Amino acid sequence: MFETLEMAPADPILGLTAAYNEDTSPDRINLGVGVYKDGEGNTPVFNSVKEAEARVLERQTTKDYLLIPGAPEYAAAVQALLFGPEHEIVTGKRAATVHAPGGTGGLRVAGDFIHKLYPQARIWLSDPTWANHPNIYEHAGVAVETYPYFNKDTNDLDFDTMRDALKSVPKGDVVLLHGCCHNPTGIDPTPGQWAQIADVAGARGWIPLVDFAYHGLGDGIEQDRRGLMAFCRSDIELMVSSSFSKNFGLYNERVGALTLVAFSPEAASALMSQVMICIRANYSNPPAHGASIVTEVLNDSGLRLQWEGEVAEMRNRINRMRALFVDTLERNGVRRDFSFIARQRGMFSFSGLDSRQVDALREEYAIYMVGSGRINVAGITEANVDYLCESIAAVLGQS
Ligand code: LMR
Repeated sequence: MFETLEMAPADPILGLTAAYNEDTSPDRINLGVGVYKDGEGNTPVFNSVKEAEARVLERQTTKDYLLIPGAPEYAAAVQALLFGPEHEIVTGKRAATVHAPGGTGGLRVAGDFIHKLYPQARIWLSDPTWANHPNIYEHAGVAVETYPYFNKDTNDLDFDTMRDALKSVPKGDVVLLHGCCHNPTGIDPTPGQWAQIADVAGARGWIPLVDFAYHGLGDGIEQDRRGLMAFCRSDIELMVSSSFSKNFGLYNERVGALTLVAFSPEAASALMSQVMICIRANYSNPPAHGASIVTEVLNDSGLRLQWEGEVAEMRNRINRMRALFVDTLERNGVRRDFSFIARQRGMFSFSGLDSRQVDALREEYAIYMVGSGRINVAGITEANVDYLCESIAAVLGQS
């Protein structure tokens, strides 16, 4: 059976990391995968995480299984972070939260749940979206549709077209929205636009699935909840897949969550029981370590303050690199207007470079970015920005 198999294509994002790791160029730059780098180009463990991890290990007496949804304290910490501890969704027990292995795990559990319970439902993804979104839902057996999002000419959100398309999504379908720091464009709706999208969801009866993987990396922990909070109304049922890969730097601990919000606590309990069946058939129950670190940090006022400071440091560095990147391109004689990059938020920028230019940057300059022209701005440092911008200028024929 195996002898006739052909090689599958490399993953468009993680496959780039594998290629980058094999590149021996001393100048190589990895702007592919969304992993934060500090000013020295490292991805350090947060100090708050180190401290919490030491405490967790000190207290640990067993490696017994967690329950299928994970630890209840973790679920409570996730809900408090998402909605605020006093929000009616939390106090009214309208939310069911399960600990999933990373944001991807949460998205996939949602896909399994949709496929099993609502086999006719389709999922609507923004065009463009994270390259793994269609992959996850195709593998979960959920039909994928797209809605317009990005205007190439203005490098901005194509809001009216997006809103009109969402008006024609039928009741019972699911619309995936990026809670903040849209991946790959870095462009989010304004608070007023979020409110309009929520009005459409409420009126039409489709279910928002908010992918919340970059909480804190846009404008702040509080500010980045604006999109999510727009959907927290009594007439909207909701799903949220959240991740601590980026905002805790816990990439390889695979710690995320899926939260489903119902109209009533009874429906939330039924949701939980159904999602547990999906999880049991998939990975059985989640890994404990990363979640206990997150719980420790979020529940300890000192560690939480320290963590918020560390997230702010990342966010500020990324925004500084955006400005530096735009300035350095200009200094290198690039005439094309890249000023929109400074207005985008989160790790990513949709640079507007085409696939031929992306290939040339990789093959001739050892600069790795996703084929769509997506750049991980967090991979830019003071040390590599000159080489990066000189290379882009050369590829654009403007050096
Ligand atoms: C990305 O978009 O680069 C990240 O979300 C990492 C991944 O798994 O693709």
